[in-house]
Amino acid sequence: MNALVHLAIIMDGNGRWAKMQGKPRTYGHRRGVVALREITIWCAKNHIAYLTLYAFSTENWNRPQREVDFLMRMLKRYLIQERPTYLENQIRFKAIGNLERFSPALRQTILALERDTAHHRALTQVLALNYGARDEIARACAQIIRHQRSSADMQELIGAHLDTAGMPDVDLLVRTGGEMRLSNFLLWQSSYAELFFSPVLWPDFTPTHLQAIIHAFQQRQRKFGRLI
Ligand code: FPP
Repeated sequence: MNALVHLAIIMDGNGRWAKMQGKPRTYGHRRGVVALREITIWCAKNHIAYLTLYAFSTENWNRPQREVDFLMRMLKRYLIQERPTYLENQIRFKAIGNLERFSPALRQTILALERDTAHHRALTQVLALNYGARDEIARACAQIIRHQRSSADMQELIGAHLDTAGMPDVDLLVRTGGEMRLSNFLLWQSSYAELFFSPVLWPDFTPTHLQAIIHAFQQRQRKFGRLI
């Protein structure tokens, strides 16, 4: 049976879900937070070590300003209001992505939750915020060049300078919402991940859907380039 240590999810479909209800896209994002909480708690209770979720990409700034502003406000509120979820379930919070583009107040809120949950030992929930895999790899390379440590093993060096340094590679990557692409998410870390695409829109995605995917993941034969 395949071990599932690191699960990554592209939470897609909030906008379409809201449209189907005749509601504004922002309503879909709000319901997306409910799904996010439920899936996170399920993962914590089911001994998954890392759950990485794509919450805001480097390309999402190109959405209408009103939607971007809403997502920023929602993120800040989420990080404050969800604190009890992290405390009650021993969940460690970590952000990846380039946080420099966020307001100082939002950055402080992110760092405070990271600091206050750093000792938690159940799930590590990683939110990808202003995250793009190409941006992450480029930032890692820039750091390496600055320190001119070119004699070491280059792949190891890049891995150690990514936002995910110290985390295991992704085992299973799930995208909801029916689209079949990676959209610049964890390209390095998902080199050997098993991919699953679910037609279910993110606000409708429940632990039952996830369990079915995990069951199918466990039947897959992972070869990592070998013959077996
Ligand atoms: C994709 O749906 C979703 C996003 C770009 C935002 C993801 C955010 C959440 C799930 C809420 C949790 C996030 C935070 C900040 C706590 P879409 O808008 O691309 O949907 P569509 O493909 O139907 O248009």
